[in-house]
Amino acid sequence: MQWKRRLAIGVLSLGILVGCATTGEQMATKEKSLYYRLGGKPAITAVVDDFVARVAADRRINRFFANTDVPSFKAKLVDQICEASGGPCKYTGKDMKTTHAGMGITDADFNALVEDLVATLNKFKVPEKEQSELLAVLGPMKKDIVTR
Ligand code: HEM
Repeated sequence: MQWKRRLAIGVLSLGILVGCATTGEQMATKEKSLYYRLGGKPAITAVVDDFVARVAADRRINRFFANTDVPSFKAKLVDQICEASGGPCKYTGKDMKTTHAGMGITDADFNALVEDLVATLNKFKVPEKEQSELLAVLGPMKKDIVTR
């Protein structure tokens, strides 16, 4: 009977050991989400605040936002960036095509907005890698936003 118990304990210990090794390896190789690396919702909210202030002061594009409800716009932008970067939020605004339809946004307008965003990301010292990843998430939306 004793040997059976020893065997059971041995097998159990081995299982735990292998389990820990796998978890350790996964932790070492699996990168944290962009959301996490950006600093979560507080950091994204700070970025959106600064970014929207830049857009509002940017004479190249601020005319588009003349009638915008800024707090609501900011909240939607935070949720959108949070969700798109792998965070726990749910974006509940309109899709990008419907939202920007009829605004006549050009390539130059789009680039001006991205420039304002990059200025904000630099101000907050967001590393190059995370900046690129965020822009890579937003970039594909361009085809639904630029209509002219
Ligand atoms: C990747 C780039 C962009 C993203 C991710 C983005 C995202 C958004 C989001 C989430 C909303 C809110 C939608 C809603 O209310 O349901 C919105 C609205 C809007 N966006 Fe964009 N946008 C982008 C580019 C642009 C550009 C380039 C312009 C103009 C220069 C622009 C002008 C506007 C305006 C005027 C509104 C409407 C605000 C209102 O309801 O009054 N967007 N955008």
